[in-house]
Amino acid sequence: MTILVTERLRLRPATIDDVNAFHAVLSNVEATRYWSTPPHRTLEQSRAWVEAMIATPADEGVEFVVELEGRAVGKAGFFRLPEIGFILHPSAWGRGLAREALVALIDHVLATRDLPTVIADVDPRNTRSLRLLEGLGFRRTGYRARTYRLDDGWADSVDLALDRRTWTSRADP
Ligand SMILES: CC(C)(COP(=O)(O)OP(=O)(O)OC[C@H]1O[C@@H](n2cnc3c(N)ncnc32)[C@H](O)[C@@H]1OP(=O)(O)O)[C@@H](O)C(=O)NCCC(=O)NCCS
Repeated sequence: MTILVTERLRLRPATIDDVNAFHAVLSNVEATRYWSTPPHRTLEQSRAWVEAMIATPADEGVEFVVELEGRAVGKAGFFRLPEIGFILHPSAWGRGLAREALVALIDHVLATRDLPTVIADVDPRNTRSLRLLEGLGFRRTGYRARTYRLDDGWADSVDLALDRRTWTSRADP
């Protein structure tokens, strides 16, 4: 069992006891505004989501619960390598916690997997995520229209990529 410890966070594998904490995140309208699925309406949806996270095959993904002061506040990982995914409860936004989690996560995945690049797929309106990823060295590689059908219409995707060399040679660890 891999646990990543940063200055303020603990990244650990999910357990079924995380269902309530993830329901708080995944039912939150603000947190899921640019997520690939609408906000969860039932605890059962969040239970199925956590079960899928726990069952992620090790050769396909690597997923971590992000814990702050002993409480699960979100997740960071790769449901399907090499695509990164992350979400935090809005109460944890604006403190550099997502950045702190992603630095540890990317360090870990590049140290343990033979990946030339890590990729991301972000809604162009999701400025917080774009700022976070571009601040970490991700570069835009493409744009695809109408990739996700949401409650209020179609969303587009900005594709981004971070290559191993950019990460290992960055000046700002
Ligand atoms: C994407 C998401 C994780 C980003 O959260 P975030 O808190 O904005 O991200 P960061 O960790 O980079 O924090 C940056 C903010 O913390 C502030 N900050 C405070 N202390 C900081 C520190 N020590 N280091 C860095 N930033 C710090 C920055 O100034 C910035 O503030 P701002 O939001 O007022 O500009 C969050 O918005 C989220 O969960 N969104 C919903 C899910 C989602 O869209 N996921 C992506 C799908 S592809």
